[in-house]
Amino acid sequence: MSNSLLALPPECDAIVVDSHTISTRIAELGQEIAEKYDGEQLRLITVLRGGVFFLADLCRAIDMPLHMDFLAVAPYLPGKGGAVRMTKDLEDDISGTRVVLVEDVVDTGLTVNYVLSFLRSHGPASVDVCALFDKPARRIASVPIAMLGFEMPDRFLVGYGLDLAGRYRNLPFVASLNDDFVFGDRAARLR
Ligand code: PRP
Repeated sequence: MSNSLLALPPECDAIVVDSHTISTRIAELGQEIAEKYDGEQLRLITVLRGGVFFLADLCRAIDMPLHMDFLAVAPYLPGKGGAVRMTKDLEDDISGTRVVLVEDVVDTGLTVNYVLSFLRSHGPASVDVCALFDKPARRIASVPIAMLGFEMPDRFLVGYGLDLAGRYRNLPFVASLNDDFVFGDRAARLR
């Protein structure tokens, strides 16, 4: 079995978006953001941990000075009625500034919905959502995505920030888990 970051992990059945396609789309998003916020004070904010990978590449594709900040939240527990909760606050005051909330994936929408409310309560001049991946099939809370990389299928995905029990975030591509793994005993042990 290979441990290479270029190899498909054994739990996966296919590469859904390859690294070249991801970097090409991020370059386009960076240009779109640079044009939209030209001459403005822009702040990119992401949610630890999965969003870090997209933020790191996106910020280098935006050809203008900008600020960055990071939030952390404890996620809701699927099927257990839990709510999203803040575990790390912003470092900087965002009042009056233009903010882009950078997310790796919008799935149910509960995380972005919560974070948007939190950010808006701090009085920014504007907040737009830039998401690399959207899984609209699983939406519970409606979320306005101003800038989107890719619409994705309703599969368990890993790579480029998306993890399987903490692993595979650093894959340069996004891959789908095979159904045997998702629905089999190994998945049950990971829950
Ligand atoms: C992922 C992702 C989003 C959230 C989206 O984070 O980074 O923040 O899920 O899911 P939602 O639309 O259903 O709320 P996760 O909670 O897996 O934490 P991580 O970033 O540390 O992986």
